[in-house]
Amino acid sequence: MILEARNIAKTYLRGGMPFSAVDDVSLEIGEGEFVCIEGRSGSGKSTLLSILAGLLTPTSGTVRFGGKDYAALGDRERSFLRNTKLGYIMQGQSVLPNLTVLQNVLLPFTFFRRDGGSDQKALGLLDRAGLLPLAEQYPASLSGGEMRRVAIVRALLASPLLLIADEPTGDLDETTTREIMELFESAAKGGTAVLMVTHDKSTTRYAGRCFTMRSGKLTAG
Ligand SMILES: Nc1ncnc2c1ncn2[C@@H]1O[C@H](COP(=O)(O)OP(=O)(O)OP(=O)(O)O)[C@@H](O)[C@H]1O
Ligand SMILES: [Mg+2]
Repeated sequence: MILEARNIAKTYLRGGMPFSAVDDVSLEIGEGEFVCIEGRSGSGKSTLLSILAGLLTPTSGTVRFGGKDYAALGDRERSFLRNTKLGYIMQGQSVLPNLTVLQNVLLPFTFFRRDGGSDQKALGLLDRAGLLPLAEQYPASLSGGEMRRVAIVRALLASPLLLIADEPTGDLDETTTREIMELFESAAKGGTAVLMVTHDKSTTRYAGRCFTMRSGKLTAG
């Protein structure tokens, strides 16, 4: 298994009362699987993804990614694992304004120097995402959908074990959405497990398994 989450819960305080954002969620994802999660706004999807990505510590439960328990890792080990083996596309924009498109895409390789982050590979993926003419531009001159695609290319560049995408096509048109889903599909065929939160019905058919989140609980279908 690439990802094994057991009995994950996250409780926040709201007006002094405990509030369950994620409630006893267990989930396993294997190599090359494409899994999607739907659910209403506020149902706990982004909170769950942050926990699965090792960015947020759950109130209880365990997450193993690539066979390693996040809780057993130090900060540096955890961020190394995240940077090298996990692609995370956050909800909303996450590109840095003072770097060009190409520099943004290569950023994870700047933090932890290693093979695989060549300009050539980056330019090839930018081309597949329709962004090649924009490689030397700064984000200020990009549209919202273009910035989102930059974040997607950045997450895919390292051929991660797991790609986590939080509403990746929220601001994309139908054609671009299809192109992005095809990029995800081909990553999955190459062995990358994909976990995607989506509100977009046209994207769920790419997934082999779909779940629905309701008030912090995850159910199949
Ligand atoms: N840091 C926090 N402190 C307190 N409550 C929080 C915090 N983060 C999220 N919440 C609450 O937890 C619930 C779940 O939030 P989350 O962002 O996971 O929802 P979501 O399903 O991703 O929604 P959307 O579809 O709108 O993105 C919400 O009610 C939110 O207000
Ligand atoms: Mg969300």
